[in-house]
Amino acid sequence: KKGNYEHFMQKEIHEQPESLRTTMRGRLICGDSSKAKSVLLGGLKDHLRTIRRSRRIVFIGCGTSYNAALAARPFLEELSGVPVTMELASDLLDRQGPIYREDTAVFVSQSGETADTLLALQYATENGALCVGITNTVGSAIARSTHCGVHINAGCEIGVASTKAYTSQIVVMAMMALAIGDDTTSSQARREGVIDGLFDLPNKVREALRLDNEMKDLAKLLMDEQSLLMFGRGYNYATALEGALKVKEVALMHSEGILAGEMKHGPLALVDETLPIIVIATHDTCFSKQQSVIQQLHARKGRLIVMCSKGAAQLVCPSGSCRVIEVPQVEDCLQPVINIVPLQLLAYHLTVLRGYNVDQPRNLAKSVTTQ
Ligand code: UD1
Ligand code: BG6
Repeated sequence: KKGNYEHFMQKEIHEQPESLRTTMRGRLICGDSSKAKSVLLGGLKDHLRTIRRSRRIVFIGCGTSYNAALAARPFLEELSGVPVTMELASDLLDRQGPIYREDTAVFVSQSGETADTLLALQYATENGALCVGITNTVGSAIARSTHCGVHINAGCEIGVASTKAYTSQIVVMAMMALAIGDDTTSSQARREGVIDGLFDLPNKVREALRLDNEMKDLAKLLMDEQSLLMFGRGYNYATALEGALKVKEVALMHSEGILAGEMKHGPLALVDETLPIIVIATHDTCFSKQQSVIQQLHARKGRLIVMCSKGAAQLVCPSGSCRVIEVPQVEDCLQPVINIVPLQLLAYHLTVLRGYNVDQPRNLAKSVTTQ
């Protein structure tokens, strides 16, 4: 079943161009001179009015599924005009946080069986919210217990570390934002631009996968490190969290995703000549802020690895002293789908080089069905 691959995680990383195509199949409408390009999500179409009128959209999930929602949040805020908040399922339950009848609660889960997410779903249902599921598993507990939802159709994911489900979840949530914003003419050009970007996204992911050897070389360089930091912001704050989660869970190396805007409020104290730091600085509205973060890390002799858009190496590292990972540029809100690919590859190669079990990392389970 692994085909030409040695591990399921490796196979699942490399099949992302296909899994993303399956996720989008039948859901993007090309449009023509009489009809605008649009998105059709069969599972949501009868609920869009309710979602648009809700007081708030709350994303709820655990682990990688939470990170995927965080990646999609800025675009959903932009297109829906509704406040979007984030909840880790266990924290919502610990606090018995407020969920109201006027809320739309979106439950994101690859397996559809995670205990914390399922309990949070029961809680939100009791509180009267509209409950929407985003799951990869038809017939799962979350798919059955939500009022409506979207199957991400990424195909069965076997590696404990989620990879292709993450990118498909982001794409489904971007499509959800497009469907919710579909009644607003002022954002039509923006929506059509993103739909074009979605059509081309599998090709761009394929291009990003060509970084495989480069990431293997980087893994050789980093394999004996104790710790690895990742700085991101805006659309790619989630990329920093998810990249660090991958390295932590499979390569068993301490890794932390840090919001670059928080750098001066603590993390800067860790910076020296030895600690490797990956800075995500692809082109978007936060780019100049990331350039200044790089300068400040550089001034403190930080050991920098910078991820930037193709052709921007000079802009992010004029001195030429940092290692640069160049990735294809796509629409800003879809960039997290591209940027996670080299980090998935890095985590994979680090794990193999360090001699750990790639598909079943120590102490972890694919689906955590107990609290
Ligand atoms: C559906 C069919 C698909 C078919 C397509 C044709 C299924 C599972 N999907 O896809 O095979 O090709 O129509 O038009 O039969 N749902 C939840 N919670 C969730 C996920 C989904 O309640 O977490 C519900 C949806 O609201 C919907 C149903 O499950 O009623 C199917 O969802 P989805 O597979 O995403 O719908 P389509 O893409 O329309
Ligand atoms: C587990 C997995 O902790 O559950 C993670 O090891 C996953 O990979 C998390 O992200 C949430 O799982 P799910 O199925 O609810 O998305």
